[in-house]
Amino acid sequence: MYYRKLGEIPKKRHTIFRREDGNLFREQVMGTKGFSGTQSILYHHHMPTEVAASEYVGSYLPEYEEQSSLRHRHFLTDRMKKCGDGHTSREYLLGNEDLLIGTAIITEQMKCYMRNGDGDEMFYIHHGSGIIETMFGSIRYKAGDYIIIPIGTVYKVMPDQGQTTKALFVESFSQITTPKRYRNEYGQLLEHSPFCERDIRGPEKLDTFTEKGHFEILTKSRGHLHRHILNHHPFDVVGWDGYLYPWAFNISDFEPITGRIHQPPPVHQTFEGQNFVVCSFVPRLYDYHREAIPAPYYHSNVNSDELLYYVEGNFMSRKGIKEGSITLHPSGIPHGPHPGKTEASIGKKETLELAVMIDTFKPLRIVKKAQEIEDESYMYSWLPS
Ligand SMILES: [Fe+2]
Repeated sequence: MYYRKLGEIPKKRHTIFRREDGNLFREQVMGTKGFSGTQSILYHHHMPTEVAASEYVGSYLPEYEEQSSLRHRHFLTDRMKKCGDGHTSREYLLGNEDLLIGTAIITEQMKCYMRNGDGDEMFYIHHGSGIIETMFGSIRYKAGDYIIIPIGTVYKVMPDQGQTTKALFVESFSQITTPKRYRNEYGQLLEHSPFCERDIRGPEKLDTFTEKGHFEILTKSRGHLHRHILNHHPFDVVGWDGYLYPWAFNISDFEPITGRIHQPPPVHQTFEGQNFVVCSFVPRLYDYHREAIPAPYYHSNVNSDELLYYVEGNFMSRKGIKEGSITLHPSGIPHGPHPGKTEASIGKKETLELAVMIDTFKPLRIVKKAQEIEDESYMYSWLPS
Protein backbone atom coordinates (compact mmCIF):
# COMPACT_ATOMS: atom_id res chain seq x y z
CA MET A 1 0.00 0.00 0.00
CA TYR A 2 1.06 3.55 -0.43
CA TYR A 3 0.41 6.91 1.20
CA ARG A 4 -3.08 8.36 1.05
CA LYS A 5 -4.83 11.26 2.72
CA LEU A 6 -8.50 12.12 2.96
CA GLY A 7 -10.22 15.03 4.76
CA GLU A 8 -8.61 17.55 7.08
CA ILE A 9 -5.46 16.86 9.11
CA PRO A 10 -3.03 19.17 10.96
CA LYS A 11 0.20 20.20 9.23
CA LYS A 12 2.30 18.25 11.76
CA ARG A 13 1.36 15.00 13.49
CA HIS A 14 0.75 14.96 17.26
CA THR A 15 0.10 18.71 17.43
CA ILE A 16 -2.92 20.82 18.42
CA PHE A 17 -5.85 20.38 16.01
CA ARG A 18 -9.09 22.02 17.12
CA ARG A 19 -12.73 21.64 16.17
CA GLU A 20 -14.80 24.72 15.36
CA ASP A 21 -16.04 24.84 18.97
CA GLY A 22 -12.45 25.07 20.27
CA ASN A 23 -12.27 21.50 21.60
CA LEU A 24 -9.53 19.21 20.37
CA PHE A 25 -10.00 16.60 17.68
CA ARG A 26 -8.95 13.19 19.10
CA GLU A 27 -5.93 11.74 17.34
CA GLN A 28 -5.77 7.95 16.89
CA VAL A 29 -2.73 6.12 15.56
CA MET A 30 -3.93 2.85 14.04
CA GLY A 31 -1.15 0.49 13.05
CA THR A 32 -0.17 -3.12 12.54
CA LYS A 33 2.65 -5.06 14.20
CA GLY A 34 2.88 -2.68 17.15
CA PHE A 35 4.38 0.50 15.76
CA SER A 36 6.48 -1.17 13.06
CA GLY A 37 3.87 -2.13 10.46
CA THR A 38 1.74 0.03 8.16
CA GLN A 39 -0.28 2.66 9.99
CA SER A 40 -2.58 5.62 9.60
CA ILE A 41 -3.42 8.56 11.86
CA LEU A 42 -7.10 9.45 12.19
CA TYR A 43 -8.71 12.56 13.74
CA HIS A 44 -12.03 11.97 15.51
CA HIS A 45 -14.66 14.34 16.85
CA HIS A 46 -15.05 12.03 19.85
CA MET A 47 -12.67 9.84 21.81
CA PRO A 48 -12.55 6.44 20.06
CA THR A 49 -12.32 4.87 23.53
CA GLU A 50 -15.69 6.28 24.66
CA VAL A 51 -17.77 3.10 24.99
CA ALA A 52 -21.13 3.03 26.79
CA ALA A 53 -21.46 -0.77 27.05
CA SER A 54 -19.45 -3.88 26.27
CA GLU A 55 -21.17 -7.28 26.01
CA TYR A 56 -19.96 -10.76 25.17
CA VAL A 57 -21.96 -12.41 22.38
CA GLY A 58 -20.25 -15.79 21.85
CA SER A 59 -17.78 -17.69 19.71
CA TYR A 60 -17.99 -16.97 16.00
CA LEU A 61 -15.76 -19.86 14.93
CA PRO A 62 -17.54 -22.52 12.86
CA GLU A 63 -17.96 -26.18 13.75
CA TYR A 64 -15.84 -28.45 11.57
CA GLU A 65 -16.69 -31.97 10.37
CA GLU A 66 -14.92 -34.98 11.83
CA GLN A 67 -11.87 -36.32 10.01
CA SER A 68 -12.95 -38.41 7.03
CA SER A 69 -11.21 -39.95 4.00
CA LEU A 70 -8.85 -37.72 2.02
CA ARG A 71 -10.70 -36.72 -1.13
CA HIS A 72 -11.39 -33.91 -3.56
CA ARG A 73 -14.48 -31.96 -2.57
CA HIS A 74 -17.04 -29.88 -4.46
CA PHE A 75 -19.52 -27.46 -2.90
CA LEU A 76 -22.31 -25.73 -4.82
CA THR A 77 -22.79 -22.36 -3.18
CA ASP A 78 -25.76 -21.57 -5.43
CA ARG A 79 -27.66 -24.12 -3.29
CA MET A 80 -27.20 -21.92 -0.23
CA LYS A 81 -30.41 -20.53 1.20
CA LYS A 82 -29.06 -18.27 3.93
CA CYS A 83 -29.21 -14.55 3.30
CA GLY A 84 -29.19 -11.39 5.40
CA ASP A 85 -26.93 -8.40 5.94
CA GLY A 86 -23.15 -8.17 5.62
CA HIS A 87 -22.77 -10.00 8.93
CA THR A 88 -25.75 -12.35 9.29
CA SER A 89 -25.55 -13.65 5.71
CA ARG A 90 -22.09 -15.17 6.09
CA GLU A 91 -21.86 -18.92 5.75
CA TYR A 92 -18.47 -20.29 6.69
CA LEU A 93 -17.52 -23.26 4.51
CA LEU A 94 -13.83 -23.99 5.14
CA GLY A 95 -11.13 -22.77 7.45
CA ASN A 96 -8.06 -23.35 9.55
CA GLU A 97 -5.98 -21.39 12.05
CA ASP A 98 -4.94 -18.86 9.36
CA LEU A 99 -8.24 -17.98 7.71
CA LEU A 100 -11.96 -18.67 7.39
CA ILE A 101 -13.55 -18.89 3.93
CA GLY A 102 -17.21 -18.66 3.02
CA THR A 103 -19.84 -17.07 0.84
CA ALA A 104 -22.57 -14.58 1.61
CA ILE A 105 -25.80 -13.63 -0.10
CA ILE A 106 -26.28 -10.08 1.11
CA THR A 107 -29.86 -8.89 0.67
CA GLU A 108 -30.06 -6.23 3.39
CA GLN A 109 -28.14 -3.15 4.42
CA MET A 110 -26.42 -3.45 7.81
CA LYS A 111 -27.98 -1.60 10.72
CA CYS A 112 -25.09 -2.17 13.11
CA TYR A 113 -21.36 -1.81 12.39
CA MET A 114 -18.67 -4.50 12.15
CA ARG A 115 -15.03 -4.58 13.20
CA ASN A 116 -12.69 -7.54 12.82
CA GLY A 117 -10.02 -7.38 15.51
CA ASP A 118 -8.55 -10.76 14.52
CA GLY A 119 -7.25 -9.87 11.04
CA ASP A 120 -7.92 -8.41 7.62
CA GLU A 121 -11.03 -9.39 5.70
CA MET A 122 -11.37 -9.82 1.95
CA PHE A 123 -14.57 -9.80 -0.09
CA TYR A 124 -14.69 -10.89 -3.70
CA ILE A 125 -17.91 -9.55 -5.23
CA HIS A 126 -19.36 -12.20 -7.57
CA HIS A 127 -22.36 -10.04 -8.41
CA GLY A 128 -24.18 -7.00 -7.08
CA SER A 129 -23.17 -3.46 -6.27
CA GLY A 130 -23.18 -1.17 -3.28
CA ILE A 131 -20.96 0.69 -0.86
CA ILE A 132 -18.62 -0.37 1.91
CA GLU A 133 -18.87 2.47 4.41
CA THR A 134 -15.89 2.72 6.77
CA MET A 135 -14.29 5.06 9.30
CA PHE A 136 -11.78 5.90 6.52
CA GLY A 137 -14.55 6.79 4.05
CA SER A 138 -16.61 4.88 1.51
CA ILE A 139 -15.71 2.59 -1.36
CA ARG A 140 -18.25 1.79 -4.07
CA TYR A 141 -18.16 -1.83 -5.15
CA LYS A 142 -19.28 -3.74 -8.21
CA ALA A 143 -18.93 -7.24 -9.62
CA GLY A 144 -15.32 -8.40 -9.84
CA ASP A 145 -14.07 -6.21 -7.01
CA TYR A 146 -11.79 -7.55 -4.34
CA ILE A 147 -12.21 -5.41 -1.23
CA ILE A 148 -9.65 -5.57 1.57
CA ILE A 149 -10.75 -4.29 4.98
CA PRO A 150 -7.84 -3.94 7.44
CA ILE A 151 -7.93 -5.30 10.98
CA GLY A 152 -9.72 -2.96 13.39
CA THR A 153 -11.62 -1.00 10.73
CA VAL A 154 -15.22 -0.16 11.64
CA TYR A 155 -17.39 -0.71 8.57
CA LYS A 156 -20.83 -1.40 7.16
CA VAL A 157 -21.79 -3.30 3.99
CA MET A 158 -24.53 -1.42 2.13
CA PRO A 159 -25.76 -3.20 -1.02
CA ASP A 160 -27.63 -0.93 -3.40
CA GLN A 161 -31.38 -0.84 -2.60
CA GLY A 162 -33.26 -3.75 -4.13
CA GLN A 163 -30.03 -5.50 -5.20
CA THR A 164 -28.49 -8.71 -3.92
CA THR A 165 -24.74 -8.99 -3.47
CA LYS A 166 -23.14 -12.43 -3.69
CA ALA A 167 -19.65 -12.47 -2.24
CA LEU A 168 -16.86 -14.90 -1.52
CA PHE A 169 -15.19 -13.78 1.68
CA VAL A 170 -12.01 -14.49 3.62
CA GLU A 171 -11.61 -13.61 7.27
CA SER A 172 -7.89 -13.88 7.82
CA PHE A 173 -5.97 -13.96 11.06
CA SER A 174 -3.21 -11.86 9.50
CA GLN A 175 -2.69 -8.95 7.14
CA ILE A 176 -3.64 -9.34 3.46
CA THR A 177 -1.19 -7.60 1.13
CA THR A 178 0.06 -7.58 -2.42
CA PRO A 179 2.79 -10.22 -2.92
CA LYS A 180 6.21 -9.16 -1.73
CA ARG A 181 7.86 -10.43 -4.94
CA TYR A 182 5.78 -7.88 -6.91
CA ARG A 183 7.23 -4.97 -4.90
CA ASN A 184 10.63 -3.29 -4.70
CA GLU A 185 12.42 -2.50 -1.44
CA TYR A 186 10.38 0.73 -1.17
CA GLY A 187 7.05 -1.07 -1.53
CA GLN A 188 6.32 0.12 -5.08
CA LEU A 189 4.76 -2.46 -7.40
CA LEU A 190 7.32 -3.53 -10.00
CA GLU A 191 6.98 -3.69 -13.79
CA HIS A 192 6.48 -7.47 -13.76
CA SER A 193 3.55 -7.18 -11.34
CA PRO A 194 0.24 -7.97 -13.10
CA PHE A 195 -1.28 -4.79 -11.65
CA CYS A 196 -0.05 -1.46 -10.33
CA GLU A 197 -1.01 1.27 -7.90
CA ARG A 198 -3.32 2.93 -10.45
CA ASP A 199 -5.55 -0.15 -10.31
CA ILE A 200 -6.01 0.11 -6.54
CA ARG A 201 -8.88 2.23 -5.22
CA GLY A 202 -8.87 3.63 -1.73
CA PRO A 203 -11.83 5.30 0.02
CA GLU A 204 -13.22 7.94 -2.33
CA LYS A 205 -15.36 10.03 -0.03
CA LEU A 206 -15.13 10.81 3.69
CA ASP A 207 -18.43 11.78 5.32
CA THR A 208 -18.11 12.93 8.92
CA PHE A 209 -20.99 12.26 11.31
CA THR A 210 -20.97 14.12 14.62
CA GLU A 211 -24.31 13.11 16.07
CA LYS A 212 -24.82 11.44 19.45
CA GLY A 213 -27.09 8.43 19.88
CA HIS A 214 -26.93 4.65 20.16
CA PHE A 215 -24.51 2.90 17.80
CA GLU A 216 -23.75 -0.81 17.91
CA ILE A 217 -20.43 -2.28 16.76
CA LEU A 218 -19.95 -6.04 16.54
CA THR A 219 -16.28 -6.79 17.14
CA LYS A 220 -14.56 -10.07 16.31
CA SER A 221 -11.62 -10.74 18.55
CA ARG A 222 -9.80 -13.87 19.72
CA GLY A 223 -12.38 -16.07 17.97
CA HIS A 224 -15.28 -14.46 19.82
CA LEU A 225 -17.91 -11.88 19.01
CA HIS A 226 -18.40 -8.85 21.24
CA ARG A 227 -20.98 -6.05 21.16
CA HIS A 228 -19.82 -2.50 21.88
CA ILE A 229 -22.31 0.33 22.23
CA LEU A 230 -21.10 3.84 21.48
CA ASN A 231 -23.03 6.99 22.32
CA HIS A 232 -21.57 8.75 19.29
CA HIS A 233 -21.44 7.92 15.60
CA PRO A 234 -18.40 5.72 14.85
CA PHE A 235 -17.78 7.53 11.56
CA ASP A 236 -16.77 10.80 13.24
CA VAL A 237 -13.38 11.05 11.50
CA VAL A 238 -12.67 14.47 9.98
CA GLY A 239 -9.45 13.35 8.24
CA TRP A 240 -6.72 10.73 8.13
CA ASP A 241 -3.48 9.91 6.39
CA GLY A 242 -1.12 6.96 6.16
CA TYR A 243 -0.68 3.54 4.63
CA LEU A 244 -3.43 1.58 6.41
CA TYR A 245 -6.93 1.85 4.89
CA PRO A 246 -9.50 -0.26 3.08
CA TRP A 247 -8.99 -0.66 -0.65
CA ALA A 248 -10.43 -2.34 -3.70
CA PHE A 249 -9.04 -3.92 -6.83
CA ASN A 250 -11.14 -5.20 -9.71
CA ILE A 251 -10.25 -8.61 -11.16
CA SER A 252 -10.63 -7.19 -14.69
CA ASP A 253 -7.55 -5.01 -13.96
CA PHE A 254 -5.42 -8.12 -13.41
CA GLU A 255 -3.20 -8.45 -16.49
CA PRO A 256 -2.65 -12.16 -17.12
CA ILE A 257 0.87 -13.47 -17.69
CA THR A 258 0.95 -15.94 -20.57
CA GLY A 259 3.70 -17.93 -22.26
CA ARG A 260 4.64 -20.33 -25.05
CA ILE A 261 3.90 -23.23 -22.73
CA HIS A 262 1.68 -23.64 -19.66
CA GLN A 263 2.40 -21.08 -16.94
CA PRO A 264 2.32 -22.29 -13.32
CA PRO A 265 -0.32 -21.07 -10.85
CA PRO A 266 1.96 -18.49 -9.12
CA VAL A 267 1.66 -16.23 -12.21
CA HIS A 268 -1.96 -15.71 -11.18
CA GLN A 269 -1.10 -14.59 -7.66
CA THR A 270 -2.91 -11.45 -6.57
CA PHE A 271 -2.64 -11.22 -2.77
CA GLU A 272 -1.06 -13.04 0.14
CA GLY A 273 -1.65 -13.47 3.85
CA GLN A 274 0.01 -15.60 6.48
CA ASN A 275 0.15 -19.16 5.07
CA PHE A 276 -2.17 -18.47 2.13
CA VAL A 277 -2.25 -16.81 -1.29
CA VAL A 278 -5.13 -15.54 -3.43
CA CYS A 279 -4.88 -15.94 -7.22
CA SER A 280 -7.03 -14.66 -10.10
CA PHE A 281 -7.74 -16.79 -13.17
CA VAL A 282 -8.90 -14.32 -15.80
CA PRO A 283 -9.77 -14.45 -19.52
CA ARG A 284 -6.50 -14.79 -21.43
CA LEU A 285 -4.83 -16.07 -24.56
CA TYR A 286 -3.58 -19.63 -24.34
CA ASP A 287 -0.01 -20.86 -24.76
CA TYR A 288 1.43 -20.25 -28.23
CA HIS A 289 3.99 -23.04 -28.70
CA ARG A 290 2.61 -24.95 -31.69
CA GLU A 291 2.53 -28.18 -29.69
CA ALA A 292 1.45 -26.65 -26.39
CA ILE A 293 -1.18 -28.29 -24.20
CA PRO A 294 -3.08 -25.38 -22.62
CA ALA A 295 -4.84 -27.49 -19.95
CA PRO A 296 -2.76 -27.91 -16.80
CA TYR A 297 -0.76 -31.06 -16.20
CA TYR A 298 -1.70 -33.32 -13.29
CA HIS A 299 -0.05 -31.95 -10.23
CA SER A 300 0.49 -32.75 -6.58
CA ASN A 301 0.63 -29.47 -4.79
CA VAL A 302 1.97 -31.24 -1.75
CA ASN A 303 2.11 -28.87 1.22
CA SER A 304 -0.77 -26.76 0.02
CA ASP A 305 -4.52 -27.16 -0.24
CA GLU A 306 -6.08 -25.61 -3.34
CA LEU A 307 -9.50 -24.03 -3.23
CA LEU A 308 -11.12 -22.68 -6.39
CA TYR A 309 -14.21 -20.47 -6.54
CA TYR A 310 -15.65 -20.50 -10.04
CA VAL A 311 -17.08 -17.13 -11.08
CA GLU A 312 -18.02 -17.50 -14.75
CA GLY A 313 -16.97 -18.95 -18.09
CA ASN A 314 -16.33 -22.52 -19.08
CA PHE A 315 -13.58 -23.70 -16.78
CA MET A 316 -11.15 -25.43 -19.13
CA SER A 317 -10.10 -28.45 -17.12
CA ARG A 318 -13.30 -29.32 -15.26
CA LYS A 319 -16.72 -30.76 -15.91
CA GLY A 320 -19.78 -30.61 -13.66
CA ILE A 321 -18.67 -27.25 -12.29
CA LYS A 322 -21.15 -24.40 -12.05
CA GLU A 323 -20.93 -20.71 -11.32
CA GLY A 324 -20.47 -20.40 -7.58
CA SER A 325 -18.90 -23.86 -7.29
CA ILE A 326 -16.07 -24.30 -4.81
CA THR A 327 -13.64 -27.17 -5.28
CA LEU A 328 -11.06 -28.23 -2.76
CA HIS A 329 -8.08 -30.26 -3.93
CA PRO A 330 -6.24 -31.18 -0.75
CA SER A 331 -2.53 -31.70 -0.35
CA GLY A 332 -1.28 -35.28 -0.34
CA ILE A 333 -3.05 -36.49 -3.50
CA PRO A 334 -2.71 -35.35 -7.14
CA HIS A 335 -5.36 -33.46 -9.09
CA GLY A 336 -5.77 -32.27 -12.66
CA PRO A 337 -8.03 -32.12 -15.72
CA HIS A 338 -11.15 -34.21 -16.06
CA PRO A 339 -11.21 -36.98 -18.70
CA GLY A 340 -11.15 -35.52 -22.21
CA LYS A 341 -10.33 -31.98 -21.08
CA THR A 342 -6.58 -32.21 -21.82
CA GLU A 343 -7.22 -33.34 -25.43
CA ALA A 344 -10.00 -30.75 -25.86
CA SER A 345 -7.70 -27.91 -24.86
CA ILE A 346 -5.19 -28.57 -27.68
CA GLY A 347 -5.38 -25.93 -30.39
CA LYS A 348 -7.63 -23.61 -28.36
CA LYS A 349 -6.61 -19.97 -28.60
CA GLU A 350 -8.12 -18.44 -25.49
CA THR A 351 -10.14 -19.02 -22.35
CA LEU A 352 -12.90 -16.85 -20.93
CA GLU A 353 -12.78 -18.48 -17.50
CA LEU A 354 -12.95 -16.34 -14.38
CA ALA A 355 -12.11 -17.88 -11.02
CA VAL A 356 -10.56 -17.04 -7.68
CA MET A 357 -8.10 -19.50 -6.16
CA ILE A 358 -7.02 -19.63 -2.53
CA ASP A 359 -4.05 -21.86 -1.76
CA THR A 360 -3.41 -22.52 1.91
CA PHE A 361 -0.16 -23.89 3.27
CA LYS A 362 -1.88 -25.61 6.17
CA PRO A 363 -4.75 -28.05 5.59
CA LEU A 364 -8.24 -26.62 5.31
CA ARG A 365 -11.00 -28.12 7.40
CA ILE A 366 -14.56 -28.44 6.15
CA VAL A 367 -17.31 -26.70 8.11
CA LYS A 368 -20.14 -29.14 8.94
CA LYS A 369 -22.69 -26.86 7.30
CA ALA A 370 -20.85 -27.16 3.95
CA GLN A 371 -21.90 -30.80 3.69
CA GLU A 372 -25.47 -29.60 2.97
CA ILE A 373 -24.35 -28.14 -0.38
CA GLU A 374 -21.81 -30.81 -1.32
CA ASP A 375 -21.62 -32.76 -4.58
CA GLU A 376 -20.43 -36.04 -3.07
CA SER A 377 -19.72 -37.66 -6.43
CA TYR A 378 -16.90 -35.24 -7.24
CA MET A 379 -14.06 -37.44 -5.96
CA TYR A 380 -15.03 -40.13 -8.47
CA SER A 381 -15.58 -37.83 -11.45
CA TRP A 382 -12.24 -38.81 -13.03
CA LEU A 383 -13.46 -42.41 -13.51
CA PRO A 384 -14.45 -43.34 -17.07
CA SER A 385 -18.21 -42.83 -17.48
FE1 LIG B 1 -4.18 -27.11 -9.16
